Amino acid sequence: MILTIKEILKKEVFTRENIISLLESEGEDRTLLYKKSAEIKERFIGNKVWFRGLIEFSNICSKDCLYCGIRKGNKNLTRYNLSDDEILAAARFAYENHYGSIALQSGEIESPYVTNRIENLLYRIKELSAGELGVTLSVGEQDHEVYKRWYDAGAHRYLLRVESTNQKLYEKIHPNDSKHDFNNRLKCLKSLQNIGYQTGTGVMIGLPFQTMDDLAGDLLFMKEFDIDMCGMGPYIEHADTPLIKHSGKLMPLSERLDLTLKMIAIIRIMMKDINIVAATALQAIDPMGREKAVKIGANILMPNITPGKYRDSYKLYDNKPCTDDSAEDCQSCLEARVSLADAEVIYGEWGDSKHYKERRAK
Ligand code: 5AD
Ligand code: FES
Repeated sequence: MILTIKEILKKEVFTRENIISLLESEGEDRTLLYKKSAEIKERFIGNKVWFRGLIEFSNICSKDCLYCGIRKGNKNLTRYNLSDDEILAAARFAYENHYGSIALQSGEIESPYVTNRIENLLYRIKELSAGELGVTLSVGEQDHEVYKRWYDAGAHRYLLRVESTNQKLYEKIHPNDSKHDFNNRLKCLKSLQNIGYQTGTGVMIGLPFQTMDDLAGDLLFMKEFDIDMCGMGPYIEHADTPLIKHSGKLMPLSERLDLTLKMIAIIRIMMKDINIVAATALQAIDPMGREKAVKIGANILMPNITPGKYRDSYKLYDNKPCTDDSAEDCQSCLEARVSLADAEVIYGEWGDSKHYKERRAK
């Protein structure tokens, strides 16, 4: 039986077919979807936004994801690795400006050197902020023991996007070798959750070969896995990557933005109290992309606090916004933007996923 959007939105649990109908909704139906997700955000989270100061500390990567601008095979960029002092200065900036948390992100390297370095940085960040700065890590697939050491050193959230939960699609957008193994990605997510991290994942939206059925499957996976945080953004082609050859198959950018907003609205309705980030990639398509996401359900923003001179080299996709700005610029720009979305930035709080607390209390 085909239900109307209004009927679907009254249901407690969505089926795959329901989600596909929501993803395909247009006009008034789509407005109903956004209205419902905004109501749920207001009820469970409030009109609030928390910052994670984003430090893209190195673009050196050992992997070759076919979509990513900083893939190992791309020789067309300058590789950089911030010094420990530069990373700590960025963390201090976040602390002094009362950001509750930072996020440390880099290309993926597995090595004892990287393990020790990050562990040491975590201790020093906790020290400089009297234990107050929350830290999210986003440095890819690692061994269980490595994740555990970083957790013990003070990292309490981890972002590892699954990119697509359809294994066939995953294999089309990654090289097929042991370094890019779908099952290892799932195993890593499970390790993070078992260790006790607030665990975040997400997907890219509008990838070549991706269908509405794939996207519905992604949302069902996130619910089933019981994630605490979600980061989803539109796929944006990068000229120096192999996936560029499939550009002809893509939906227009405006549709990718639209579909991303629908995905955010639907996951907000399905998982009411998780943290949802308004991804920077949204802004690469629409100057108001992130504000739109905040209005309909997102509650986390990641102002870039990477020192300006390196930003241009962390281009995962073409047209990445704000690569010319300083950390201060990003903050004032985002604050103005958040108020445009009728929300308020909450300073000096971690802004943890409520879902995590409820899940752990069970
Ligand atoms: N377009 C959009 N997002 C991308 N990412 C990597 N490359 C691209 C791209 N071309 C995303 C991936 C990764 C995150 C850090 O950036 O989802 O997990
Ligand atoms: Fe670096 Fe995918 S290219 S992790």
